[in-house]
Amino acid sequence: MLSFESFFFMFSEIQICCAEVVAGSAAWLGRGLSCVCAQRRESDPRPSFDLTPAQEECLQRLQLRIDVAYDSSIPEHREALRALWNAAFPDEELRDLISEQWKEMGWQGKDPSTDFRGGGFISLENLLYLARNFPKSFQDLLRKQEGDRSVWEYPFAVAGVNITFMLIQMLDLEAVKPRTMVGATFLKFLSENESAFDLLYCITFKLMDHQWLAMRASYMDFNTVMKSTRRQLERELLLEDVTRLEDLPSYSLLSR
Ligand SMILES: *[C@@H]1O[C@H](CO)[C@@H](O)[C@H](O)[C@H]1NC(C)=O
Ligand SMILES: *[C@@H]1O[C@H](CO)[C@@H](O)[C@H](O)[C@H]1NC(C)=O
Repeated sequence: MLSFESFFFMFSEIQICCAEVVAGSAAWLGRGLSCVCAQRRESDPRPSFDLTPAQEECLQRLQLRIDVAYDSSIPEHREALRALWNAAFPDEELRDLISEQWKEMGWQGKDPSTDFRGGGFISLENLLYLARNFPKSFQDLLRKQEGDRSVWEYPFAVAGVNITFMLIQMLDLEAVKPRTMVGATFLKFLSENESAFDLLYCITFKLMDHQWLAMRASYMDFNTVMKSTRRQLERELLLEDVTRLEDLPSYSLLSR
């Protein structure tokens, strides 16, 4: 039999779980998103959210993208890497796919594929999406054109891979179902626009750079800036009047 205390504990947990949904937005309930307010297992204290079939499909497609590792034997992957170089330095020819030139872009060595470890091919796709859709922001970030910069700047490309990695973790994209309100909110945007992950990446890169400058950060502060970026992004995603990614306050940092 349950003791009074453990019953009360369970009851208050259930209330918190349901209140979270109500506080989010009433529109949720109408969109087929519902919080599972059943008894929780002790091993996983987080609530899980049900998905519509369309949301489930979008999540699975994104998960397939996330699982693709960069593979230099695939022509499409090599082409993407070349395309990134051309977008970054249209006036400078890349001499070879493995070249010291890559360091100019903030890769750690002469072969970017060794820096993809954490992010996989999707981190290259994210950088390309930024270059193609927000060329001005891409160039500003690459060339560190805004603000009063640190002597010890973060490396552009490696930071980009790190952002992809952070977003996958923040949105818990490797789980079968979202387990946080932020993850569930994102899936709603994703089911409305397949580019949602790439667009969120662009917003996040600009937000990270903005915070880097605001905090007058230097290389050793990179982790702190990333954590603060993540918190700010989570807050913005849960704002009441955000119905698409373009409504996020930080979206206004981007320019085309
Ligand atoms: C991102 O940065 C953190 C801290 O510097 C590091 O621990 C992590 O390995 C990096 N991830 C990637 C994918 O580079
Ligand atoms: C999806 O979002 C992107 C980025 O804002 C936009 O360019 C594109 O037109 C959108 N697609 C649809 C189908 O709404």
